[in-house]
Amino acid sequence: MTQSSRPQRFRAGRHRIVQGDSLQILRRMHSGTIDVVITSPPYNIGLAYESYQDSLTEDGYLGWMEDICAAIRKILTPDGSFFLNIAGTSAQPWLPFELAVRLRKQFVLQNHIVWVKSIAVDGSTVGHFKPVNSPRFLNRNHEHLFHLTLSGDVRLDRLAAGVPYKDKSNIARRGHAQDRRCRGDTWLIPYETVRKKEQKFHHPGTFPVALPELCLKLHGGNAEKVLDPFMGTGTTLIAAQRQGLTGIGIEIDPHYVSVARARLAAELAAARSPQNV
Ligand SMILES: C[S@@+](CC[C@H](N)C(=O)[O-])C[C@H]1O[C@@H](n2cnc3c(N)ncnc32)[C@H](O)[C@@H]1O
Repeated sequence: MTQSSRPQRFRAGRHRIVQGDSLQILRRMHSGTIDVVITSPPYNIGLAYESYQDSLTEDGYLGWMEDICAAIRKILTPDGSFFLNIAGTSAQPWLPFELAVRLRKQFVLQNHIVWVKSIAVDGSTVGHFKPVNSPRFLNRNHEHLFHLTLSGDVRLDRLAAGVPYKDKSNIARRGHAQDRRCRGDTWLIPYETVRKKEQKFHHPGTFPVALPELCLKLHGGNAEKVLDPFMGTGTTLIAAQRQGLTGIGIEIDPHYVSVARARLAAELAAARSPQNV
């Protein structure tokens, strides 16, 4: 979990990446300086990461996550948002809920968003999921996204993250200024279809860019700095770049750091290309 070697720092455009242990680095960051934290920590379910061993005791894991979240609490601005993405497994179904309850001492659960990775509608399935081969358990098609804040009172931009009205007559009838409404707390964000592991950057647990992008839109326009303390392949930093914000990523594994740097470099080059200027 911890590494004694000195953190290494990299820059990509206005974004920063630190290779090292997130708890050590978070504890050294200045208080009240980060507007939005979006992260998917290791879930402690034995995923085959490049170097991190994803198999602590349950109590050890929950204690470590409490320490991580206490450090995040300290660096968040008073009206900041912390989006924590986590899921359980059939063997550990209580884990996300246990963690959420432990975090009551530190945060208000302002919203509980369900990230739907796949859903069956009218007899056909949208999205992808890893099938659970068991007569006892259903396939797990969703994950949690706990929206944690310091006060529970953070003003959000619900329409920026919203959707158009299906029935356009509602716009005038209900006196809305624009064709946009809150999308609610179930977000259908399927993974892109991939055929090879390299398309997922050889990482076992990434989220789609659309997930952190939607979190940033929902948090709204007053944000500047976005942090992902378990950056993995840099997905949150790609979202920050696309939303015109400054991203900071922390990742312990040198291989994933190099993947994130390459992804960001490609994103920055695409933004500079003549079609996008
Ligand atoms: C669920 S993955 C995050 C994936 C990321 N959301 C993405 O889209 O690529 C969790 C990451 O945390 C990293 N990690 C594990 N322990 C860490 C630690 N102590 N400090 C920093 N990173 C750590 C793992 O190497 C892994 O890449």
